[in-house]
Amino acid sequence: MGGKKMARFDTRAIHGGQKDKHPSNALNPPIFQTSTFVFDSIEHANKVMSFESDDYVYTRGNNPTLRLFEDKMAVLEQGVAAVAFASGMAAISSTIFSLLKPDETVIVHKTLYGSSYSVVTELLPRYNMKYKIVDLTDLKSLQESIDENVKLIFFETPSNPDLSIIDIKAVSKIAKENGIKVVVDNTFASPYFQNPLTLGVDVVVHSATKYICGHGDVVGGVAISKDEDYIMSLKFNYMCEFGGVMSPFNAWLLLRGLKTLGVRMRQHEKNAKEVANFLNNHDKILSVMYPGLPGFKGHFIAKEQMTGFGAMISFEVKGGLEAASKFVDSLKLAQIAVSLGDCETLVQLPAAITHRGYPRERLAEFGLTESMVRISVGLEDYRDIIEDLEQALDSIDN
Ligand SMILES: Cc1ncc(COP(=O)(O)O)c(C=O)c1O
Repeated sequence: MGGKKMARFDTRAIHGGQKDKHPSNALNPPIFQTSTFVFDSIEHANKVMSFESDDYVYTRGNNPTLRLFEDKMAVLEQGVAAVAFASGMAAISSTIFSLLKPDETVIVHKTLYGSSYSVVTELLPRYNMKYKIVDLTDLKSLQESIDENVKLIFFETPSNPDLSIIDIKAVSKIAKENGIKVVVDNTFASPYFQNPLTLGVDVVVHSATKYICGHGDVVGGVAISKDEDYIMSLKFNYMCEFGGVMSPFNAWLLLRGLKTLGVRMRQHEKNAKEVANFLNNHDKILSVMYPGLPGFKGHFIAKEQMTGFGAMISFEVKGGLEAASKFVDSLKLAQIAVSLGDCETLVQLPAAITHRGYPRERLAEFGLTESMVRISVGLEDYRDIIEDLEQALDSIDN
């Protein structure tokens, strides 16, 4: 988009990142389904290989469909450049490895998506990289855990699955004062509700599989930064060399999904607020974790740094694991599945499924219980979602 004034989000989601007309004046971009690109001459090849020309070499390094997705993501996260990956985990693992050397330490929040937790606690130590698990909602704990080896802070906010809200601006300020980089996984909020780069973060990562796609038919990831040189190094030294490249078809599907991100997020959130209020007022529910509830611990920080509260809710039913399993098994509309951000309402028990890698005896330390239920509120009519939850709660006999 030209001009000085930045267009509003919904407009950027549709037009952002597009510099030229598409071939043949097509409304939509083509899928450049090609592995390689042809050079006109050795002179042309030399120019492309030395980055004197923006032309393409090989899809593992770049491709016009991927570039369009990356440029749009940079615009939506208010960054400067982005790099697409084959999955959210490819984006997260490559970014962490790119910012840490042997003997250096990453600080992570105590709740993280299960595979991110495994990368940090199992893979990094194999390369002599260290980690510290800290409750980042407590800034004093963060201050106390910083030493000269800490070079990176990585967290999700809202976090998966307990919806911890971490003060992005405050953590980034402390990090900057100590020469530490900050990476935020913005998957739960999506760029519609939160732009961590505007709050001082160095790199934002997403599982694009979730809200960015929105339709449950792509696995993808992306990292975005205001530092173009860093993104170039992440792309050509890590994405390209580890080889976790996104396919052009997936980039095209994500471009399609992004056009409706704002519309979807508004409806997801509207539905989630209704569901959270219903659960919060139900006598078979022990507690509800949703940043939009005024009684929730992170509510006021969420209100400051997010423009909406999203559509992920976790909760505890009375009666422990047995009651939680009975409840989930009794759902008829909501389906039991990992993933989130799809049109369909999805439910799961994190301790048994997405966060199975967490040590059982230490679940409570990480803010998890075996009976915690996580729901990704979909785009069905909220009244049908609530009726489904109600009949499943009725099936529990406590
Ligand atoms: C917060 C968060 N980050 C990262 C991931 C990993 O993304 P992907 O499955 O696209 O690799 C997930 C997956 O559920 C997630 O919930």
